[in-house]
Amino acid sequence: MKVLNLYAGIGGNRKNWKNVSVTAVELDPVLAEAYAQMFPKDVIVVGDAHQYLLDHYREFDFIWSSPPCQSHSSFRQNICVRFRGTPAVYPDMRLYQEILFLRHNAGCLWAVENVRPYYTPLIQPDAALQRHLFWSNFEIPESEMQAGIKIRHAQIPDLEESLGFCLKGSNIPNKRQVLRNCVDPQLGLHILNTAKIVWQEKVKISKTRKNGKGVG
Ligand SMILES: C[S@@+](CC[C@H](N)C(=O)[O-])C[C@H]1O[C@@H](n2cnc3c(N)ncnc32)[C@H](O)[C@@H]1O
Repeated sequence: MKVLNLYAGIGGNRKNWKNVSVTAVELDPVLAEAYAQMFPKDVIVVGDAHQYLLDHYREFDFIWSSPPCQSHSSFRQNICVRFRGTPAVYPDMRLYQEILFLRHNAGCLWAVENVRPYYTPLIQPDAALQRHLFWSNFEIPESEMQAGIKIRHAQIPDLEESLGFCLKGSNIPNKRQVLRNCVDPQLGLHILNTAKIVWQEKVKISKTRKNGKGVG
């Protein structure tokens, strides 16, 4: 199964994926380097994931996208902007651009992940799991799975232990934030596994159709 992992970070959602061929896109070269060390078999593109999606969406069986969430975050808006002097910003519309783009153009399976926003989502999400919303073209089942850790107050060692990453040797400047940005690896696996089942079914149906044509 060929998977495109957009806005890859250090690979939280990707951590527990096995037996898939992954292309990851990350803009920050320091994060891309950390990702490359952890997932040396993945193809890593240091560049703009938004443009990469537009240019390459036809090449994959499953696309995962985690566009930047800061401008949608209720913590940023309701605590930092309102009480701590953080500047207000426009919500980043790439989130909705990608959902609409994938919904109307992609033939493959896809899931877009983001935080629960401070406003009513402009497009109704298809699933809400842990602290994330998901928009997708396949059903993501509910899961009892809890996040390994309460992210907001967690410090680097607890985050590393819970997520299964060790950033000790890395020169990432804002390790705590980068770790906090990670999707829980078990949740990433839950979604990949669901997509895989749907994809295997699609492959089977398309083979049966081809064989049927051959016989007729
Ligand atoms: C929410 S984090 C992704 C977390 C990741 N899904 C995980 O589970 O570890 C978003 C990432 O997108 C990266 N990013 C921001 N703008 C980008 C762009 N235009 N193209 C590619 N990556 C970008 C950031 O550097 C950050 O690492």
